[in-house]
This record gives sequence, C-alpha cells and structure tokens, in this order.
Amino acid sequence: MPEQTIILVGFMGTGKSTVAELLAERLDLRKIDLDAAIEADQGCSIPELFSGKGEAFFRQVETDVLKGTLDEGGGIVVATGGGAVLAEANRAAMLNAGLVVALTASLETILSRVQNDPNRPLLQGNAAESVPKLMESRRHAYDFAHQHIDTSDKSVEEIVELIVQRMKEK
Ligand code: S3P
Repeated sequence: MPEQTIILVGFMGTGKSTVAELLAERLDLRKIDLDAAIEADQGCSIPELFSGKGEAFFRQVETDVLKGTLDEGGGIVVATGGGAVLAEANRAAMLNAGLVVALTASLETILSRVQNDPNRPLLQGNAAESVPKLMESRRHAYDFAHQHIDTSDKSVEEIVELIVQRMKEK
C-alpha cells in the first residue's frame, strides 16, 4: 500500500495546524505545515512576504511549495493555509495526492481564535469586519474535500479520532 498522505484544508482558525500535529503523531506520519515551509523557502515571515511582494506572489510560492511537498511522496499530514484551496491546480493536486479533510468552525469560534493575531495579513485591522466577508467569499471553497469536520465544539483529540474512524470506514 502506498504511504498515506492526509491534507488538512479550511479557513483560518479552524485548527488545521494543531490537528495536523496530533493526527501525525497518532498515525506515525510526518507533519508538514505549508506556511512554515513557505517561510523557510522564502527566508521571511508570511506577513513580510505579503507586505514585501504582495498576495499574488505569495499565492505562486504557495502553489510551488504545495506541489513540491506533495511530489515528495506520502507518509505525511499537511496543514495548508486557508487560501491554498483557491487555485484549481492546488485543489487538483491535493485530491490527486491523498485524503483531503476540511475543518470548519463557526464565525464566533474563528473570531475568538484569530482576533488580534499579527501573523495573518488578510485579517489586519478589524477582524470582526474582515472575517465574515472573507468567509462568505470562500463559502464553497472547501466543498471539494473528502471529509468535513466542524471543530467548533470538539477537542483536538476528538477531531483526530473522528478522522481516523472515518478513514477506517472507507
Ligand atoms: C491565508 C491563511 C494563512 C496564510 C496566509 C493566507 C488565507 O494560513 O496562509 O496568511 O488566505 O486564508 P492559516 O489558515 O494557517 O492562518
């Protein structure tokens, strides 16, 4: 059997990085955080990349790093950034590489998790205004995933067990 690849997608603040960490541990896979891989590739932080080179450049790097990560082969859990699903090529690459799990959360939960976070350039200023708008514009962006899990009222352990359980049922 080929080594497993699990890709977590979802809006900012849905818990992708935290869930990826525990899921990787649980399944004895390697965790890769796409934003961290982009920062390592570019030698600067995500906010620096946005302010220095702009969002379009960031998206291109995101696509390249995602492709490079998935091309390396399986045995990984990948936590993607919230906008990694926007490019059709990225969605196709993810579906082709393995199991895509979308994490969701209520607006209130997301706001409580992301408010005042300086590391999210798209939410600078008034997050209470920008989050609902961005969520609305991405309402169907995560529909393509194989699994969907609302993380609002679940512990990280519960979410991981749910993913593993559903994988067994397949
Ligand atoms: C983004 C989400 C961020 C990061 C960048 C853009 C987005 O990742 O990739 O700030 O467009 O939703 P997280 O979802 O991990 O915050």
